[in-house]
Formats: sequence, C-alpha cells, structure tokens
Amino acid sequence: MSPGGGGLSRDGRGTSALDDVRAAASLREDGPATLEWAASYLERVHELPVLAQVKPGEIRARLPAHPPEAPEPFSAVLRDLDELLLDGMTHWQHPRYFAYFATSSSEPAILAELLAATLNAVAILWRTAPAATELEGVVLDWVVDLLGLPSGWHGHIEDTASTSTLAAIIAAREATGRDLVLCSDQAHSAADKAARMLGMRLRKVPSDAEFRMQVDELGDVSEAAAIVATVGTTASAAVDPVGQVADVAEAGGAWLHVDAAYAGSAMVCPEHRWAFAGVERADSLVVNAHKWMLTPVDCSLLWTRRPEDFRRAFSLVPEFLRTPDAEDALSLSEYGPALGRRFRALKLWAVLRCFGRAGLRAHIRRGVELAARFEAWVSEEEGWELCAPRHFSVVCFRLVGSDERNRQLLERVNAGGQVFISHAMLNGRYVLRLAIGQMNTTEEDVTQAWDVLRGEAAAL
Ligand SMILES: Cc1ncc(COP(=O)(O)O)c(C=O)c1O
Repeated sequence: MSPGGGGLSRDGRGTSALDDVRAAASLREDGPATLEWAASYLERVHELPVLAQVKPGEIRARLPAHPPEAPEPFSAVLRDLDELLLDGMTHWQHPRYFAYFATSSSEPAILAELLAATLNAVAILWRTAPAATELEGVVLDWVVDLLGLPSGWHGHIEDTASTSTLAAIIAAREATGRDLVLCSDQAHSAADKAARMLGMRLRKVPSDAEFRMQVDELGDVSEAAAIVATVGTTASAAVDPVGQVADVAEAGGAWLHVDAAYAGSAMVCPEHRWAFAGVERADSLVVNAHKWMLTPVDCSLLWTRRPEDFRRAFSLVPEFLRTPDAEDALSLSEYGPALGRRFRALKLWAVLRCFGRAGLRAHIRRGVELAARFEAWVSEEEGWELCAPRHFSVVCFRLVGSDERNRQLLERVNAGGQVFISHAMLNGRYVLRLAIGQMNTTEEDVTQAWDVLRGEAAAL
C-alpha cells in the first residue's frame, strides 16, 4: 500500500484510522493551500491589530473540550486557524510590532522549518543525525565569521537564551566548583532564574547612570562561579564594559558569560563592534538568532571557548546510547541539557545563505536608522523626554509627567491595535520602549507609531 492511499493497511487488517489520517492530510494536497495561507498572512498582517484584542479564556472557550473521534481534513485546521485562533494572535510578524524585542521570521527560514519537520531528525547522537549535527557546527562557525568573533570557538544551538545561560552557568559551576553568580541589576531575569533553579547564590551589581554594570562594584569575586555581562540589556540595550568585566573574571578565576541575546546580531556590522570589545575573552556567549537574525523562534546560539568544561558538565551517556569514541565527541547532546535535539541549524543555514552578509547588515542598519529617527522626533518634541542613551534599535522615552500617566498612555496606545510597544523601569521610573526589529518595518510604520503616541497623549 502506498502512503496516502486507501485499501488494506500494511498488516492486512483492513483500512485503519491511521490510513484515514494519512489520506486526510497530505503535503501534495494541502501543502499549496497552507503555503498560500502563509504567504497571504504575511501580505495582510499589517492590516490586523498587532496586539491580540481578546480577553483571557476567550480563545479556549471557542474550542471543543474534546478531540475529534474521527479524522478531520487538514482544511478544517486551516479554516479554524482563521476563524477561531487568528484574532487571539499577537502578531510578531506585524511591521508595527515594537514591544520587547521585535523579531522576524523570514521566508527562507519558514520554508526551512517545514523541511526540518519533514526530515524530523532527532539529534540524540551524531549517528542519528550526522548532517544536522555537522551543519550545526558549520553554521555556528559561519556566524562566528559574520560577527567577527575569534575562530575556534565551539558552538551549538539551544532553544532559548534562558537555556543557553542556564547551560553556561552549569558549566561554570562545574569548572570552578563555586556557587555564586554575579550580574548587573539590568541583567535579564534568565540569570536569576538559572541561579534559583540551580540553588546557587546570586549577587546583583549596581549599574551606572547609563545602565552599565559598575565593574568596581563587583567586589570580591573569589567565590564567583560566573559573572554574566550583558551587551544589549533588556530594558535599554545598555552595554556592560565587557573588557573590564573580563579583567575581573580572569583575575578572580570566574567564568565570564556574555549575554548578547538581542544585540549580538548587530556585530555583523563593523560600526557596532565597539560595543562588543572584550567579548572575545568570554568563556561563553549567547546570541539569539531568533531575535534580530531573521530566524523564527527557537534558535539560540551558544558558543564557548571551553567545550571540555561543557562536556564534563553535560555528558552522560547511558549504555544504550554508546557509540565509538570518535562519534561520541561529536554528539551535541553532550554539551547541553537536552538529549533529543531538533534540526534548528537548517533554518539558520537558509537565512545565512538567502540573505548573505550584505542582507543581514542591511537589516540591522535599517532597524538602527529607524530607531535613530524616532529618537530624534522624541528629543525635538516638547513634553516628551528620552530616558536612556539609545543603543542599537531600542528607544526608551516617556511623556513628561507621572508614571501613572505613562502607564495609561501605554494601555491606550496598545488597545488601539495599530502599534504594540512595551515598558521598562529605569531608575525607578516607568518608561516606554520602542524596539525595532521586524524586517518589514518602514519609516511610515514608525511615523504611525509616533502619531498614535502623540494622539493618545493629547487625549489623556
Ligand atoms: C538580554 C536578554 N537575555 C536573555 C533573554 C531571554 O531570551 P529567551 O526568550 O530566548 O530565553 C532576553 C529576552 O528578551 C534578553 O533580552
């Protein structure tokens, strides 16, 4: 029996439910409609409200409590995606998505995700996915080249920066035998969470007026397993002085982990590399390709110059997974928490090939340029203030006045659905953040955001 056909199943017991499923959804029959859905979604996403306009529980209430008894056609899934789910989506692909860190899932990567799911490689060992494993090494080397990092680092892909930072701290603990993590008060909560999950102590170092770690406040680091420095903090994209942190880490025998989850992609442009001075001295570095490198979540790139420390921390190979030594060392599951690893490298490979260095640079530069324009508009407008130096594509600003006024403004702006922005606390003050990163954002979109902000501010 051919897959997808009716008739007798392989074991000759007649047509089974599984055969119906195979018949109910087929790449050839449903693929074109699905690709058409994806293409037309990307064309019309700018017409949809950016932030989902539903109440908690509303989507769940629309869905049946029980799964279908009989197989349904895939067309029903596509229909319900439109009719039941779509207005419960916050559209990260919207050109006026400016909240948190705006991201883009580009077309080469979307297609590659389809292929990765088709191949369904589960890289538990090198031999279960040789090409996926070796391509992962190659694309991580390519990104090292693109970002101007030292060659020879060992790279692999984790799902998120939270996992990458957790893994780095585990390796640091293994390497140092210590149980203290240091980071600035601007570091991402992933560092706190990792320390908490690991039962390690965490000490937060104050930041200066520009939200950079105050290195002289690191104090005695002789008990520190890891110091986490951030290039591109979550609130204001501030840049810790990594070189100075590296001096302290080296002198004190601590592991230096650099979190460049958002800003790391900007290293592709030589004019931004000043911000990464000292990163070459890191013991580990995380950059999320799923933030500013045109790749859909999840694709967190983690490099280390100390792969043997990672391997000591994570390698646990039970008998049933044993293979000859030469293969063992190549199994990336020995360098991180997960055993089963999906073929994430394929989408990144597609992005790197289909955009090239030039395309990646153009994407970063456009985001930074648009942010600079927005920054200039805010600085020139009476009644508004900038709240942090602008780095990369993030602008922190607020309406002159109380926190409450700014909170209300944010609610009104987002409720309208034309734009989506988020907030942060800086120096104890509530500030608004406009983060540019969506590949389809144009000057018109940023202008519209500014118009909505000023209009809502006037109406407050
Ligand atoms: C600087 C920084 N580090 C880490 C993270 C966590 O990223 P992820 O969602 O991949 O865990 C973020 C998320 O925005 C971030 O801004």
